[in-house]
Amino acid sequence: MKRYLVIGNPIKHSLSPELHNYWIKKNNITGIYDKKELKISDIENVISKLKNKELNGINITVPFKKEIIPFLDLLSEEAQNTQSVNTINIEDNKLVGHNTDIKGFELSIKETKFDIKNKDIFIIGAGGVVSSIICALKKLHVSKIFVCNRTKEKAENLKSLFKDIKIIDWGEVPKFDVVINATSLGLQENDNIELDFSKIKGHKLFYDIIYNPKETNFLKLGKNLGNKIQNGQLMFIYQAQAAFELWHGIKPLINNDVIEIFD
Ligand code: ATR
Repeated sequence: MKRYLVIGNPIKHSLSPELHNYWIKKNNITGIYDKKELKISDIENVISKLKNKELNGINITVPFKKEIIPFLDLLSEEAQNTQSVNTINIEDNKLVGHNTDIKGFELSIKETKFDIKNKDIFIIGAGGVVSSIICALKKLHVSKIFVCNRTKEKAENLKSLFKDIKIIDWGEVPKFDVVINATSLGLQENDNIELDFSKIKGHKLFYDIIYNPKETNFLKLGKNLGNKIQNGQLMFIYQAQAAFELWHGIKPLINNDVIEIFD
């Protein structure tokens, strides 16, 4: 029996087990995927379970994507470039950290059919997932990337990884083609991002990495102003698909049953 786990804090709302267990069953794999809420001091114990093969792979979510790195033997180039690991795979008895959030974001953007090449991007937030989003945006050859964050210092820190991003003050809204909410504002139904988008003409893309609720107030506003919108559901599914492929060597299908997991 192969065993997989997603670790984070909080973790109870994670839909990763439903998604992976659905695919495990569909592909006749003898395995199980579970979730576990951890403290930072518990990470060592989980790592030892990977080393002694009690676990075959893990996903990592907020707030451990960076903290996990010192425990690993190797990093993929993308995990290295973003200093963010969301998947650990065992390769030649070594613990290898991968970042499938990048692919998740990239594929989800492609699916919106919004052409972002040479476009200006405005990212709100500077939490754990933002380095992956920036990395994906660079692969998609966007033009300028603006980042703002309530705690400006955290946005400034991203400049050590990506020299050409522009950090702006919280409250400022630059001219943009795509705006991405990468904060946790929106997880509560009454959360609002207090930014003034009234001067932005329509036909932009409003993207929220949140997928529950499906339509945050940020996306509702974008839609009302005549823009295209996309929530984080596809990014989440595609990052899981890429992790599944790493572990099992099978690219699992994304069908209606998968989409219904979120309903
Ligand atoms: P982490 O910072 O541990 O990676 P995260 O959930 O990935 O956590 O990121 C949370 C993001 O939402 C951060 O950008 C955070 O801003 P701060 O760095 O200033 O904390 C942002 N955020 C959360 N609550 C917010 C609020 N009430 N107003 C504005 N931004 C908020």
